[in-house]
Amino acid sequence: MFSTVVTTAATRRFAAASASPVTRATASLSSFPSRFFSTETDMKKGVGDSSESTSNQSQRIKYFKVYRWDPEQENQKPYLSTYPVDLNDCGPMVLDALLKIKNEQDPSLTFRRSCREGICGSCAMNIQGSNTLACLAYIDDDTKTATKIYPLPHMYVLKDLVPDMGNFYEQYRSIEPWLQTDANTPRAEPGKDGNTKLEGEFLQSKQDRAKLDGMYECILCACCSTSCPSYWWNADKYLGPAVLMQAYRWIEDSRDGQTKKRLDELDDAFKLYRCHTIMNCTKVCPKHLNPGKAIAQIKKRMASI
Ligand code: SF4
Ligand code: SF4
Ligand code: FES
Repeated sequence: MFSTVVTTAATRRFAAASASPVTRATASLSSFPSRFFSTETDMKKGVGDSSESTSNQSQRIKYFKVYRWDPEQENQKPYLSTYPVDLNDCGPMVLDALLKIKNEQDPSLTFRRSCREGICGSCAMNIQGSNTLACLAYIDDDTKTATKIYPLPHMYVLKDLVPDMGNFYEQYRSIEPWLQTDANTPRAEPGKDGNTKLEGEFLQSKQDRAKLDGMYECILCACCSTSCPSYWWNADKYLGPAVLMQAYRWIEDSRDGQTKKRLDELDDAFKLYRCHTIMNCTKVCPKHLNPGKAIAQIKKRMASI
C-alpha cells in the first residue's frame, strides 16, 4: 500500500501544531538536489511572479510544501520540501499532484494511495490544516499561495506522509468487528435457495438493515480520530471516533447476539467517555459520516442498561 516501500519501523511522533518545520526545511535544503524543491526565497519569487506567468501562458505553477522525514537518514529532522507543479499539466486532485511530483521530480517522496477514488482510505493526510483524502481533495488553484501537506496529526510517522496505523488497527481489532450470532438470531430455512448443503442465511428486516446506513460506509481512513483532541492526548486508551462508530455498527446490528458484551467492553472511563462531544470528527469526515452521533448513541444505550 506504500507508494515507496518503507523498510524501517523507526517512528516519530508528529504534532501538526509543533515547532516550525519550515525552519527545519530551510536548514536541510543544501543536502538535496535543487530540482526537488526551491528555497523559501525562490518560492516567494516564483509564486505569483506575473512577468513569468505572462511570458509563459502555457504554465500555471502551483507550489506544494510537503512534510518530509526519512528514518534511515541519521539525525535528520523533519523538514518541508517545496515542489512546483504546472496545474495545466496535472489532474485536479491533490493526489494527482503528489503522483506527478513523485513521478517527475522526487521518487523518494513517500505516501500511501491505492484506489484514487475515496474507497480504500489509504491516502488520508493533513492538507492545508484539515485531515482529508488526497484523492478527494481538489487542488486550490490559487497559485499565489502554496498548499501545505503533512501526515495525519499526532500519529507516529514511518516516513514522509506515511503514519503508523498500528495502534489504530489494534483498537479496531479490540472491538471484534465481525458478526457474532447466537441461537436467537433468525435464519432462513436451509436449502431455501435451492442449495441444500448450505445453512440458511441470517435474516434482517429492511428497517433493521437501514439502521446500519451511515456507519457501514466508513473506510477507516482515521481522518476523524486524528482530528479529535481527546484522541491526540489519550490515543493509547481512548478508542476514538472511527473505532467507536464501528463498535456501534455491530451493537446496532439486529443479527448480532453479543450486544450486552459489546456494551460492557466499552463501559470504561477512557475507551468511551473521553469523548467530550467536540464534534471535530464529524466535521472532518471525507465520507460525510457522523461518528460523533454514533458515540452519543452508544452513551444513550449504555445509560439504558
Ligand atoms: S468515520 Fe469518516 S473520517 Fe472516520 S474513519 Fe470512517 S470514513 Fe474516515
Ligand atoms: S465528538 Fe468525541 S470523538 Fe468526536 S472529536 Fe469530539 S471528542 Fe473526539
Ligand atoms: S487513494 Fe484510496 S481513498 Fe484515496
